[in-house]
Amino acid sequence: MSVREILTVGHPVLRERAREVDADELVTAEVQQLIDDLVDTMRAANGAGLAANQIGVPLRIATIEVNDNPRYPYKPRIPLTVVVNPVIVPLDDEVVEINEGCLSVPNLRGDVRRHVNVRVRYLDRDGVAHDEIRRGLTAGTFQHECDHLDGRLFLDRVTDPTTFTTWEQFERFHRDAFVERITEFVRRVGS
Ligand code: NI
Repeated sequence: MSVREILTVGHPVLRERAREVDADELVTAEVQQLIDDLVDTMRAANGAGLAANQIGVPLRIATIEVNDNPRYPYKPRIPLTVVVNPVIVPLDDEVVEINEGCLSVPNLRGDVRRHVNVRVRYLDRDGVAHDEIRRGLTAGTFQHECDHLDGRLFLDRVTDPTTFTTWEQFERFHRDAFVERITEFVRRVGS
């Protein structure tokens, strides 16, 4: 088990477009170890996802997993998913406002508009191609991680800066209304 340091906003690698991983590189011990480290680091930090550039490696690889997550208790479960070279295409114009946080942006949350229905294509860690439809908060999580690989942070997508809160003030003043709205949304959309 190897938990790596998570880089925070201001580190230049978070603002670079990470590069594609080719099939020969994906099977190397180095890249497979990187994927193991991403999983360990994501789990140790209770993250819903982690992109390789968040631990300083500018490759298009991210991990996503949601179980009983204390940071995001309202998120539907997502089994451990490793995405390599992911490409996301929105299926329609439906969007939802999601209150997000990020391990690279300590103690800040804000409202971000995300596509509700997306098609995601990626390779898994064994190089097998996947082509999936993801919806709702799960679609939002995939968009957040793919943004990282393009050098974007959720901060860039917050259209109303008055929605920025610390985690403490979110809990005190905003959590209940958000959870009520998003629970209804999850019920409707299904994930
Ligand atoms: Ni993030």
